[in-house]
Amino acid sequence: KLPEPFTAKLPIPPVKRPSRSTGDTDHYELTAREASMEILPGLRTPIMGYDGIFPGPTIKARKGRRTVVHYRNQLGVPTVMHLHGGHTPADSDGFPTDLVLPVAGGSGYADQAVGGTTSAGTRDYTYPVNQRAATLWYHDHRMGFTGPQVWRGLAGFFLITDDEEDELPLPRGDRDVPLMITDRAFEADGALRYPAMDPHLVSMPGIDAAHMNGAIGDVILVNGAPWPQLEVEAVRYRFRILNASNARRYELTLDPPAPLTQIGSDQGLLAAPVEHSTITVAPAERYDVIVDFSAYPSGSKVVLKNGDGNVMRFVVGRAATDDSAIPARLSSIEPLPRSAATTRPWMFRQGKVTSMGEETDGWIINGREFDPQRMDATPRLGDVEIWRFGSDGHHPVHVHLSPFQVISRNGGPPGPGDHGWKDTVDLSPHELVEVAIRFDDYDGRYLVHCHNLEHEDMAMMATFRVSR
Ligand code: C2O
Ligand code: CU
Repeated sequence: KLPEPFTAKLPIPPVKRPSRSTGDTDHYELTAREASMEILPGLRTPIMGYDGIFPGPTIKARKGRRTVVHYRNQLGVPTVMHLHGGHTPADSDGFPTDLVLPVAGGSGYADQAVGGTTSAGTRDYTYPVNQRAATLWYHDHRMGFTGPQVWRGLAGFFLITDDEEDELPLPRGDRDVPLMITDRAFEADGALRYPAMDPHLVSMPGIDAAHMNGAIGDVILVNGAPWPQLEVEAVRYRFRILNASNARRYELTLDPPAPLTQIGSDQGLLAAPVEHSTITVAPAERYDVIVDFSAYPSGSKVVLKNGDGNVMRFVVGRAATDDSAIPARLSSIEPLPRSAATTRPWMFRQGKVTSMGEETDGWIINGREFDPQRMDATPRLGDVEIWRFGSDGHHPVHVHLSPFQVISRNGGPPGPGDHGWKDTVDLSPHELVEVAIRFDDYDGRYLVHCHNLEHEDMAMMATFRVSR
């Protein structure tokens, strides 16, 4: 029996305090460990959580201040921490074979770290945060096991603020709410149900053949609670919507209808607000939206729907003072220059891959399965390139290191969700999407991959090396 919708209260992940701050750096101690939490009423769910909670604690960073995460892996399996959307030097980017082994020791993982490094129990990740205000998130990225390890709880928000955003009269404080949407499936005893080949996640990656398209759950969680409810005042709120689901995409609307006014995308503020009645959010995408609850009579119950299904509910309270506004101009976004840019095709489709020495069905890019030691592209530092993504099905394509701008879909204009700076772009079946991307600041080895986490684990990743 699934829980009654709208009975849980929306949890807000706690904001992490730095363990120390120096002139230009904030240090955090973050530990991945096993824990249990009540997700379904009256049941305990074992999770893997950053600091033992799901979602993990929110890290708030300031543009221009370095953030160092002293990460400790107290789990029984290797992990890799990645800051999604981070403009990060390669050695801190969380390459899938740069494993952090369990503190308790863990030999026998050498084969999983081929083409990467192993750290014994701890690793420091350094984020320069020389990037604009944006809603980023951090999550596990272990080669072959990202799907099950994120499913069990390894995901949290990482919010960057800056002066440009501070000067805008946007809703703040408890009217600025992060919403991490995930779907999950459960056993009768409350345990998370993931169709992993090896439930202990030790050595055999992958999921059973019935889940080629990804792991989907029948319970929608927001910030870790099933179909929760939030009491709001009849004023404007800012919601930072993140789809942290493994494979599900959402078609979000408000019922009764009201506009979702988008002010930001994956990589921060848009040039100008865009009104939507529906937003389609693919895995890993972020939509920063304003909802004006003063449009509803007090006492209204407003449901955030996913198609015909529910996500969460807002109960509108009394009118209150609201000095927020949605400015007509939010930011300035220079289009990347495209003349003389190198164009690279990236074709995302189903294909044969090798797993544990056997050929099986998987997901590949440009006809090849992921090989951490093969460089699939070598852009030069400082160059702008046009990357052309093609697909056989639904694939949310994500590029590490650099944000991009969507130029076209199927030769036509970009779609309604393609505004601003993006780091993940949703491809529909047989689509061709062109993006412009500049490789700035850091050289080294990075990833481009599908963010359907099961596709990713089934080899739908490629490597590029930015060279000087
Ligand atoms: Cu959200 Cu390669 O990551
Ligand atoms: Cu995919």
